[in-house]
Amino acid sequence: MSIPRARRLGRVTAVVVALVVAGLAAWGARAWHGSRLPSTYDVMELGVADYGGGAPAPHRAPLAGHSPGGADRALSVAHLKGPRGGEPDFRTTLTARRATVPLPSGKALDAWTYNGRVPGPELRVRQGDLVEVTLLNADIEEGVTIHWHGVDVPNAEDGVAGVTQDAVLPGRRYTYRFRVEQAGTFWYHSHQASSKQVRRGLYGAFVILPRRPPPRRARELAVVAHTFSGARTLGSSDGIARRAIPAGTPVRLRVINSDSLSRQFALSGTPFRVLAIDGTDLNEPTLLERETLELAGGGRYDLGFTMPRATAQLHWLGTGAALALSPDGKGVLPEPAAAAEFDPSRYGSPREKPFDLTSDFDRSFVVDIDKRFGFLDGKFGRHWTVNGKLLPHLPTQVVSEGDLVKMTFVNRTEEDHPMHLHGHHMLVLSRNGEPVAGTPWWSDTLNVRPGERYEVAFRADNPGVWMDHCHNLEHAAEGLVLHLAYEGVATPFRVGGGARNHPE
Ligand code: C2O
Ligand code: CU
Repeated sequence: MSIPRARRLGRVTAVVVALVVAGLAAWGARAWHGSRLPSTYDVMELGVADYGGGAPAPHRAPLAGHSPGGADRALSVAHLKGPRGGEPDFRTTLTARRATVPLPSGKALDAWTYNGRVPGPELRVRQGDLVEVTLLNADIEEGVTIHWHGVDVPNAEDGVAGVTQDAVLPGRRYTYRFRVEQAGTFWYHSHQASSKQVRRGLYGAFVILPRRPPPRRARELAVVAHTFSGARTLGSSDGIARRAIPAGTPVRLRVINSDSLSRQFALSGTPFRVLAIDGTDLNEPTLLERETLELAGGGRYDLGFTMPRATAQLHWLGTGAALALSPDGKGVLPEPAAAAEFDPSRYGSPREKPFDLTSDFDRSFVVDIDKRFGFLDGKFGRHWTVNGKLLPHLPTQVVSEGDLVKMTFVNRTEEDHPMHLHGHHMLVLSRNGEPVAGTPWWSDTLNVRPGERYEVAFRADNPGVWMDHCHNLEHAAEGLVLHLAYEGVATPFRVGGGARNHPE
């Protein structure tokens, strides 16, 4: 007899196991290696071009970085600036620096600020103004920028480190110039290491008043909700802030969520209307009584009401932060009981829209967000994916100027994803297959909740290389970042490298 059967079988098994292990190791090594991000890169080289069913223009480099010689025929984003000449209608300087900021509760924040305050100064300009803001960096070691969240500025003014400019290092300056054609509630924040810098305080409100001024009696208030390591603040207050406003005064209260997570608010003591979402007025908003309002991370709602004789109060639900308005500046209301949630998809009345679900789209993109096991920059774990792919293989959406673009966002994960497209406003067409029924609803930061599917559309009318990312900035830092690229446009800036650009 030769080798007993059992021993033979044992050997075969061992060989098979060894082969499988070796195969897995080889696969793992390749996957690990393929997932490594270069220490410096052009965002246009990183993504995988997605033409959304449109053809790449044959006469141009589709993505400048992809084809040799493409870059010199391409237009540099650095040239896509706002007006260089002309006296600005609004001019200011913002200095980024570290500061200790006291809160009314007695707590002190160890903050990174614009001009030593959190929020940074509220910038108030008028529609049509030429705005000039000079950013100085006093002492933020890793550099800073200013991004004008929701303002559809020319690409070179967009303030994204490594995409539209280099981070502004200590002792350096950068001047932003653009004309504002929108009117509404926006905000500004650093887009260098934004997940950390915004959290630490580099943000502020940016209000564009309409060309036609509101009645003189009207009051305008902007309030930013922000969390500093546990301290909940509305504006610069971490408790109940009070303001005296005479009864009968028309009030526009602009609520901005600068946190990464969705936040819930309620306005009690008065009926109110939601006048605008993400800096765009709604059509014929009706009176609401008790609805609670959920703001996406980075989102804004403008609330309108007439000052009652008693107190009207904005509550940041579940926190001790509130803004109490009353004719005598006194009085506080208890936090209201839970109520139905405001739904923008069936509010106000319809009005003619420039496009809808039946339009003929030049490009259609799907952004299907999931979480899967794999390697991300050499680390194995469950990471965000788009259309099944992990960074650096996420799609870059390529469009041509003038295209009508449809985008479908699908969230297969268990967390909210407030999707923020730079440089454009998206018209929301449908949610979970249901067409939007009321007012036209334009958004720049659309919260896509677990299990939800949204169809949105926009006109590609602002050439450049634009970020399109989740505004839960931790998610963005974990790789949930896409880019919208116009054909024939390239960026000379790089992430990483000597300029130390890290937009997320
Ligand atoms: Cu509010 Cu990409 O930013
Ligand atoms: Cu997200």
